[in-house]
Amino acid sequence: MKKKKTTHTICFANNKGGSGKSTTCANLGSALAAMGRKVLLVDGDMQLNLSLSFLDEEEVLALAAGGKNLYTAVTQEKELSEFIVPGVQKNIDLIPSSTLMSQIEMDLFPKWQREFILSKLISGIKESGVYDYILIDAPPTLGGWVMNILIASDYVIVPVEATPWGLFGLANMFEFIGKIRQMAPGLSILGVLITKVDERKNYYHQTAQTLRELDDIRVFDNVIHVDSAIEWAQDASSTVVVYKRSARSAKEYLNLAKEVDQLCQ
Ligand SMILES: Nc1ncnc2c1ncn2[C@@H]1O[C@H](COP(=O)(O)OP(=O)(O)O)[C@@H](O)[C@H]1O
Ligand SMILES: [Mg+2]
Repeated sequence: MKKKKTTHTICFANNKGGSGKSTTCANLGSALAAMGRKVLLVDGDMQLNLSLSFLDEEEVLALAAGGKNLYTAVTQEKELSEFIVPGVQKNIDLIPSSTLMSQIEMDLFPKWQREFILSKLISGIKESGVYDYILIDAPPTLGGWVMNILIASDYVIVPVEATPWGLFGLANMFEFIGKIRQMAPGLSILGVLITKVDERKNYYHQTAQTLRELDDIRVFDNVIHVDSAIEWAQDASSTVVVYKRSARSAKEYLNLAKEVDQLCQ
């Protein structure tokens, strides 16, 4: 009998928008898939950015309207495997999002054990051992829905933008994760990823130093530089790893994938 895979579930969270969560979720997924890992991507944000990294707008809106999306799964409390769009890239399946995600907090409010709903609905896929990685993109908030995403995960990666405001609010984020770990002791911070690096700006070096001095929190060796190829890839509903493998950011995400894969063994 074929040996089952251990499935590692990683989410991407930071309450600051624009820190590179969706870009990292899509590109790390693409890079892990390029290494031969089998990946499921789960889009937890109403902005649909992760879905739009693999499908064009028309396809995403059709899936949202047709109910094949995470919002429908969670609000109707259905097993997630029914909502998978297979083969959006080689070795990658996707559960898309819906713009209705904007009201998920209200929908969750009356539900029994509402913080644990996603964790329950995803457990069948985890136990099936089909995937090496499940990567979940989170919205830039710190409410009950992000709590669901964190509780459903083994690890969280915190992307931080290397700008003066990038560090703002990070302490709240770590405090929030700390509280959730009391409910879900299996959750750990895999690391902080410094994104949108521009070496010419002194501030980058200061941000990196401040982060590397934090006790008990790993900062990934690999950082991601500012690279317009990322935006070109997004414009083409793709990831830079597939769209332009020679780009600096593609190589950086491929190296990050190796780092993450080693840490998860
Ligand atoms: N390394 C990068 N170089 C250039 N642009 C980037 C890079 N990473 C992200 N971006 C751009 O920054 C914006 C915010 O990134 P995104 O991943 O959507 O952040 P978040 O999901 O945290 O809100 C997007 O427009 C994206 O195209
Ligand atoms: Mg996002």
